[in-house]
Amino acid sequence: MYLVEEKRLKRMKDILAKRQKDLSVFMDDVKNEHNFSAIIRTCDAVGVLNVYYRYSLKREIPINEGITLGAHKWVFLKKVENSYDFLKKKKEEGFQIVITYLSKDSINFRKVDYTKPTIIAVGNEMSGVSEDILELSDHKVIIPMYGMVQSLNVSVATAVVLYEAQRQREEKGLYSKPQLSQEEIDKILKKWAIEDVIKAKKRKDNL
Ligand SMILES: C[S@@+](CC[C@H](N)C(=O)[O-])C[C@H]1O[C@@H](n2cnc3c(N)ncnc32)[C@H](O)[C@@H]1O
Repeated sequence: MYLVEEKRLKRMKDILAKRQKDLSVFMDDVKNEHNFSAIIRTCDAVGVLNVYYRYSLKREIPINEGITLGAHKWVFLKKVENSYDFLKKKKEEGFQIVITYLSKDSINFRKVDYTKPTIIAVGNEMSGVSEDILELSDHKVIIPMYGMVQSLNVSVATAVVLYEAQRQREEKGLYSKPQLSQEEIDKILKKWAIEDVIKAKKRKDNL
């Protein structure tokens, strides 16, 4: 019994059937709240389950709901304290670390096989990713630039790489069968349904 309407529940189930638990994004001190929220929205669209971030300021980075349009409720947003330690642990768990990095040594982002368990790291708007994480990378990737400006906005760059990952994963059938176990799906459904009911009640109370 989930207490949400059948149609709403079906939507949640359909989304979970396509969530990719082995494709994640790591934001390494993305500071602009609009960029932060836009990245979350793209993660939801591509089916990313876990979105990780490090944020160096004392205050929490606000979610801009006008930009996420609620997408932040459907991904798991997890803060990490130390980029190096976090990525090292993920690497030990079997994830390849793909770092978006503006350098002559980086390879074209399309050359990577994103159907493997992957974490895509993106960096701060001014300084890019932390230097120390570069040694952990399996691939440093660049999106070719042919204009006067040397870089893309970080949320745009994330979307470009994520949609390449989505294309490859779709081709390999990774969206055609659930990547999450039934147990995992049930657990998330329970959580989402409860949160959904609480939000709906709050909205009603505020009317
Ligand atoms: C505005 S850029 C940072 C620019 C910074 N001066 C640097 O050299 O890294 C912010 C982030 O967007 C991503 N990015 C932007 N353009 C990119 C590109 N052409 N290729 C790969 N990543 C890119 C990277 O994650 C980068 O850390």
